[in-house]
Amino acid sequence: MIIAANLKTNLTRLQTTEYINKIENFLKTKNINQEVLVFPAMTSLNKHVGSVTIGAQNAYATNNGAFTGEIGQDHLNEFGIKTILIGHSERRHVIGETQEMLIEKFNFYKELGYKIVYCIGEPLEIREAGHDKMMEYISKQYEGIDTNYKNLIIAYEPVWAIGTGLTPTLEDIVTIHKKLKEKSHAPLLYGGSVKVTNAAEVLALDGVDGILVGSAALNAEHFCTMVEYAQNLENNK
Ligand code: 13P
Repeated sequence: MIIAANLKTNLTRLQTTEYINKIENFLKTKNINQEVLVFPAMTSLNKHVGSVTIGAQNAYATNNGAFTGEIGQDHLNEFGIKTILIGHSERRHVIGETQEMLIEKFNFYKELGYKIVYCIGEPLEIREAGHDKMMEYISKQYEGIDTNYKNLIIAYEPVWAIGTGLTPTLEDIVTIHKKLKEKSHAPLLYGGSVKVTNAAEVLALDGVDGILVGSAALNAEHFCTMVEYAQNLENNK
């Protein structure tokens, strides 16, 4: 399974190094072979050798150039980073990235063979408008995206569930993931208020290939416990 930590705008470079080291030690001690991804803040990116894959939360669709405040692929390359998160709800709704911008970014990093974790998900008012409206909204987020790309991972994160402590019911997650699997065979993660207390039941659901965790992942012990849940589920299959 794929267990990913989105550290967002948290943890300094030093704290991130300590965090990643804790996870590496845990994976080694417990003999864990799950795919573990960590997305640190930009200035906390660094070269890393180990089982954990480090990814960027964002980068511009360029190698370099005049894009003040952005980083390009040269900067990721310096650290051997080949994994990127695209379309996170905070990029779409807080920063204002449009589907067109995301498509450009997706295509740029796809051409370079990056592993892309592409995020989708609906805001509350769309969810409340009913299932059809919701699926219509989510379908638009697939537009222009190569859903057959071999290094693609999709993360379904309902906007209203991010950082709120709210989650869809387990039945809802199964239903939506089933629909989303019709759109792409890429591994499909669930994200939005996943914590140690609900991670095991979410991971066990049909159509859930992993989780993308925000706030609860900031606690390294909690994140490691979630990774262990995934390992136990696979061992018991
Ligand atoms: P929370 O786990 O804090 O709800 O955030 C989820 C998320 O946005 C992961 O990308």
